[in-house]
Amino acid sequence: MVYIAIPRQFLNSAYILTAFQHVITVPHVPRVAAENKILDPQAHSLQSLPSRQCYPPHPLSTHQIPVNPAPPPANSDWVSTGHLPTQSVVQQLVEAAHQRFAGVGEGEVADYIPALAAANPDHFGICIAASDGQLVAAGQAEQPFSIQSISKPFLFALICQAIGEDAAKEKLGVNSTGLPFNSVLAVERSGEVLSNPMVNAGAIAATSLAPGDSAAAKWAFIEAGFSRFAGRPLTIDATVYASERATNQSNVGIANLLSAQERLWFDPEISTDLYTRQCSLSITTRDLALMAATLGNGGRQPVSGDQVVDPVICQHVLAVMVTAGLYETSGDWLYDTGLPGKSGVSGGMITVIPGKGGLATYSPPLDGAGNSVRGQLTAQFLSERLGLNLFASRPAV
Ligand code: DON
Repeated sequence: MVYIAIPRQFLNSAYILTAFQHVITVPHVPRVAAENKILDPQAHSLQSLPSRQCYPPHPLSTHQIPVNPAPPPANSDWVSTGHLPTQSVVQQLVEAAHQRFAGVGEGEVADYIPALAAANPDHFGICIAASDGQLVAAGQAEQPFSIQSISKPFLFALICQAIGEDAAKEKLGVNSTGLPFNSVLAVERSGEVLSNPMVNAGAIAATSLAPGDSAAAKWAFIEAGFSRFAGRPLTIDATVYASERATNQSNVGIANLLSAQERLWFDPEISTDLYTRQCSLSITTRDLALMAATLGNGGRQPVSGDQVVDPVICQHVLAVMVTAGLYETSGDWLYDTGLPGKSGVSGGMITVIPGKGGLATYSPPLDGAGNSVRGQLTAQFLSERLGLNLFASRPAV
């Protein structure tokens, strides 16, 4: 009898087994009966798998391997699922996180938008919304604040839904810049490689793509879409809006540069103003948890049941959040949490847990990249303790 060590993942591959079925005897793994079948080690029964192409043929192939050329179905059932631990476990850990990080004194409250400087640095709210709409919160989860850059993934989702995700990708790009959110250098460079809608330039360009041929029509689209994500009518924080409007010359400059590069699809000043309004929408940590949970729930708002965007759009939005949601420190974030996230300069943060729900935090002191210090610590702690990291696995045998 001959034993050859083959990594477990290859044992699930029909063509390898087909190629070697005459020479390998693998203990305890029954031979695959037909293409696209694997053994479910739990159930000890054969399960169907979606067909997969393999190009080029695996180098171990010694003869023509039959592969089914049909691509996986577009609306595949093979998606992220699961659930959070029980509500009492989640509650216990959310409270533990609040207690643990409330005393952290690092970070600075943003003041380049003067109204934001008035935020109380001690405010600290945490909320988790499960995909079934159950909520768990601690601290100031009902404190209103302006959404700021956390608006960006939701705007991108609405634009993808309106013009199609392929057109949105082609116009806005989905590549990380590795540079700060307001970088002008990134705009100049993005003639070569398009950046993404999580930074200011990409978000202003996305805003310009909102349906409608007037500022009012575009705003109606944006306001309605955000309210559907939150499950309640959202309104602007007039003080923050006036303050940012009076000081956002740099965003106006970015919009003009985009316009000169023919990468803006509406008037630069109006586009910047619409973007500023959307950043000034007033939300709470609880709202954000439900908005994040909507992105993690195939686009369906867990409480209202409203299908805000298509499931496939959520998966693309989450991909861009992974690469660029925390700007130049997105890699650190992903390493620590293993989840898509998005921050805002008012101190809010969202973390999406695909298939399971959404986490939101509010704590105004920020690190040098503009991301909430306590928010990042909380997301890392809860990702570890609640077992949320998308990359975590353990050997099955
Ligand atoms: O455009 C700006 O500068 C703000 N309205 C939003 C920036 C922001 O939230 C960056 N995030 N951390």
